[in-house]
Amino acid sequence: MSRVAYVNGQYVPHKDAAVHIEDRGYQFADGVYEVCEVLNRQIVDMPRHLERLGRSLSELRIEWPLARKAVEYVLKETIRRNKVTNGLVYIQVTRGVARRDHFFPSADVAPSIVVTARNTSRAAADLQAEKGIAVVTYPENRWPRVDIKTVALLPNVLAKQNAKENGGKEAWYVDTDGNITEGGSTNAWIVTRDGVLVTRPAESGILRGITRAVVLDLVEREGIKFEERAFSLEEALEAREAFVTAASTLVMPVVKIDTAIIGNGHPGSIATSLRQLFHTATDLQVV
Ligand code: PDD
Repeated sequence: MSRVAYVNGQYVPHKDAAVHIEDRGYQFADGVYEVCEVLNRQIVDMPRHLERLGRSLSELRIEWPLARKAVEYVLKETIRRNKVTNGLVYIQVTRGVARRDHFFPSADVAPSIVVTARNTSRAAADLQAEKGIAVVTYPENRWPRVDIKTVALLPNVLAKQNAKENGGKEAWYVDTDGNITEGGSTNAWIVTRDGVLVTRPAESGILRGITRAVVLDLVEREGIKFEERAFSLEEALEAREAFVTAASTLVMPVVKIDTAIIGNGHPGSIATSLRQLFHTATDLQVV
């Protein structure tokens, strides 16, 4: 089946999909994005993702490229045209195409919008979750506005590549206080020796993950002991469990941090049950 992408008002063959070389996303990383999970032809937590997209856009003073309802339609239509059953849908909005100049272009320059969707293997992801992943720490070196989901991901790319080259699947950023902030494309969690689930507050230093928010709803519903506070690398190394969350990984157990084995080296019971329960707390919208 040939893939299709939505680019500025048109559905085009994925292999030919392109934006202009002077798109500000290309030249300045002047744009934002969202990634949503697709489960059984349903978009998971679309309202929360669109809410965050709206916030990212307004923080950068970029207009919505289309009315929000129309964006919802395009997401669903791109999923439908690509016959995605389980996978991911990606939306990117940039400040548009204009002659290269750091200043914002004039108000008549329309934002660019691109949507893609693809199937992913649930079986492979579940198999990975049964084994857990290794993470590799990396000094926090990103700008302070990581709350905005911008396409400026070079530090994340470098941290994740370093993780890969050192046997990991994800990077964990460590700030100058020795605390874990988050992963290269995930939020970070631990379960302490006393069985308390801990994740860092989202007020600053991390992206306010949608998966994180859903897990917090679950934690409350299930009565799991929980503290929202910073945790150090040292504490993480001593943890009973660790895991990461993102729309692309859901709840993914972490069994190794750098060279240290976490817990007994197998996915922990809290991570595993949160992964199993995850979709019982999500908002599913049929495509
Ligand atoms: N990443 N932190 C960072 C830095 C992220 O890039 C992401 C998402 C998250 C988790 O957010 P959410 O639960 O809303 O997916 C946390 C996406 C999946 C990506 O870049 O592919």
